[in-house]
Amino acid sequence: MSKKYSFDEIVSHLKNYGYVYQGSEIYGGLSNSWDFGILGSYLKKNIKDLWWKEIIEKSPYNVGIDSAILMNSKTWEASGHLKGFSDSMVDCKECKSRFRADQMIENATGLSVEGKTPEEMDAIIEEHNIVCPKCGKHNFTNARPFNLMFKTFIGTIEDAKSVVYLRPETAQGIFVNFNNVLRTSRKKIPFGIGQIGKSFRNEITPGNFIFRVREFEQMELEFFCEPGTDLEWYEYWIKKCYDFVLRMGIKEENLRIRAHAKEELSFYSKGTSDIEYAFPFTTWGEVWGIADRTDYDLKQHMEYSGEKLVYRDPQTNETYVPYCVEPSVGVERLFLMAVCDAYDKETLDNGEERIVMHLHPALAPVKACICPLVKKLSDNAREIFNDLTDEFHCEFDEAGTIGKRYRRNDAIGTPFCITYDFDSLNDNCVTVRHRDSMVQERVEISKLKDYIKERIQF
Ligand code: GAP
Repeated sequence: MSKKYSFDEIVSHLKNYGYVYQGSEIYGGLSNSWDFGILGSYLKKNIKDLWWKEIIEKSPYNVGIDSAILMNSKTWEASGHLKGFSDSMVDCKECKSRFRADQMIENATGLSVEGKTPEEMDAIIEEHNIVCPKCGKHNFTNARPFNLMFKTFIGTIEDAKSVVYLRPETAQGIFVNFNNVLRTSRKKIPFGIGQIGKSFRNEITPGNFIFRVREFEQMELEFFCEPGTDLEWYEYWIKKCYDFVLRMGIKEENLRIRAHAKEELSFYSKGTSDIEYAFPFTTWGEVWGIADRTDYDLKQHMEYSGEKLVYRDPQTNETYVPYCVEPSVGVERLFLMAVCDAYDKETLDNGEERIVMHLHPALAPVKACICPLVKKLSDNAREIFNDLTDEFHCEFDEAGTIGKRYRRNDAIGTPFCITYDFDSLNDNCVTVRHRDSMVQERVEISKLKDYIKERIQF
């Protein structure tokens, strides 16, 4: 694991350069809510575009949809979220801090409490004399379940009939559209349906910056296959997701795949593995979960809706409920992993320090910064900017010394700085300066677009 920099340092860098802002800042903020700034919104967009391209468009199996956030509440009865989507919480009676009981116990004792009831957790807290992580006293309320779904009302009347929930995962919007996709896509099993969208969870203990938040974006694929082939597809998707992370340029020493132990699995799951990253604030943190969910979800929706969610094999004419393998990942988790892995500080030959984000060029918010050497050359440089902007996001920077402009672009992760100088007027070339190696080379202006395009491929 290569943990060189503190989490605070990385977070402060992201705030300084406008990757992320405090949510509702002018009103004193809203705890654990974050806005993505000029650069951050590009990084998020690039992550989502790559996922969509690689997982949906380039796959021979998959299609994409975009389902509604608000769904008929029966969805959540069927999926089990109304009954079971809860964490146990305890309050410290002394300092009034609130904790997730499982996390508090695990941190204090190293014991996993997966599947334990609130009463069993109370017993463990007593037996191990666990103290409040904030004030150090041992005086807790009993553990009690807390449903993580945000509740609201649809229409003008706030009664039981008008209750709706902000979806806690995008997956259910896919399951309820199984027949619609089958009817309109002409897909045959195996096939997957993916989507990207906001999910909401009223987390008891959000934190670690954007790692655990109450409003986040998920990229989920529900991959339907014939029962009996599911474990093969489960392995296939673990590998695909891991490859995606490696192709993002994440250092392999900071990654691991962790298969869940039997007692950690949901009762319907045949297997779940997480791709984890060595975040600076913890040992390992979950980034991407891949689960074999069997036929649980479709069967539940069949029972609650009365609709048949089945597949007829065109060859054998046999009808069955497909099994489902689900790779599910949060955009913010991939974002945080990418920036933690990319952040670096180097001492240059002249003794100066530079901060550099070695983001994969395909992820970098700004692909190239066009820098006229002096303002007199701005009009010529602007022509290059206009031409490149047709293809990718560029910045134009004519302020300050060229060295300072390089430093700023290193710090935000721009892979190329392009300097238009007096020689450019005669040789029709520009100097391309590479972020990581700092090597500079002359490139013909007519070839510049292709030159950059080639080097920012995923
Ligand atoms: N449909 C399955 C599902 O939602 P999950 O493990 O609860 O499974 C999947 O969530 C992924 O969503 C996680 O691996 C993580 O990347 C992301 N995620 C979950 N809760 C999150 C939160 N509170 N903040 C940010 N990302 C979250």
